[in-house]
Amino acid sequence: MTQQVVIAGGTGEVGRQLLALLAQRPELSVRALVRRPGSLPLAANLEEVAFDFEDLGAYGPVFGPPCDLLLIALGTTLAGAGSAEAFLRVDRDYPMRLISALATTHPGAKVGLVSSVGADRGKGLYLGAKATVETELEASGLAHAIARPSFLRSDRREFRLLEVLVNRLIAPPWLALGRAAFAGSPGWWRWAPVHVREVATALLEATLSLQPGQRQILEGLDLHPGPVTQWGRP
Ligand SMILES: NC(=O)c1ccc[n+]([C@@H]2O[C@H](COP(=O)([O-])OP(=O)(O)OC[C@H]3O[C@@H](n4cnc5c(N)ncnc54)[C@H](OP(=O)(O)O)[C@@H]3O)[C@@H](O)[C@H]2O)c1
Repeated sequence: MTQQVVIAGGTGEVGRQLLALLAQRPELSVRALVRRPGSLPLAANLEEVAFDFEDLGAYGPVFGPPCDLLLIALGTTLAGAGSAEAFLRVDRDYPMRLISALATTHPGAKVGLVSSVGADRGKGLYLGAKATVETELEASGLAHAIARPSFLRSDRREFRLLEVLVNRLIAPPWLALGRAAFAGSPGWWRWAPVHVREVATALLEATLSLQPGQRQILEGLDLHPGPVTQWGRP
């Protein structure tokens, strides 16, 4: 039977990878909530839905149709948002509104959330927002999988200085040393920069496989299958 998927953040780096994977699954029917329709690659099983995340009245109706799976890959930066308040709306409030509306309308649905490494000890603006959403998700009673990546590797067109520095200077030696000496170390891989493709693949598979009421956290080696499956170690 066709499963109904809603995705928020599909135009982002992780979101685009999720959509590419979803496009290969004709048994899934996907509605992507977007600010600007026409921004996503076409796919036979994809419908873009123009959505105003600021409109509190829009959240209930978006789950009027059936929804089996909600994927959330929303996020911004303090610089991009312009203020702490605006940042929190995107990284904390919009995901919480989606989760709350889904729990009310489809309590049997599953959620896949892109969070961040460190959200379990969430302090400060960024990690505090992630921690609040994770807590809300757990309290919702919805089955869910949470990906907690470290720095993301991608071909992002927008210039983000920290990401560029990490990807050019830190990621290559970190990953090489990890393969050579720390292939099975959860601590090493927890903080290792990770490609958006790996995050999307792990999150989608985990979310689709959830049992009712199940909670699954994906971090470290869960998001880096390479050390075990590609390099044959540990
Ligand atoms: N970057 C990292 O190194 C890193 C590390 C760990 C965790 N994370 C987290 O991983 C998640 C995904 O990251 P990403 O790099 O894939 O994100 P991204 O490329 O920045 O994409 C963010 C998504 O959020 C949407 N968005 C941004 N501002 C919005 C607003 N005001 N209203 C509605 N939608 C808005 C964007 O839509 P538009 O296209 O319409 O702007 C886009 O779909 C985020 O939660 C991020 O915090 C990132």
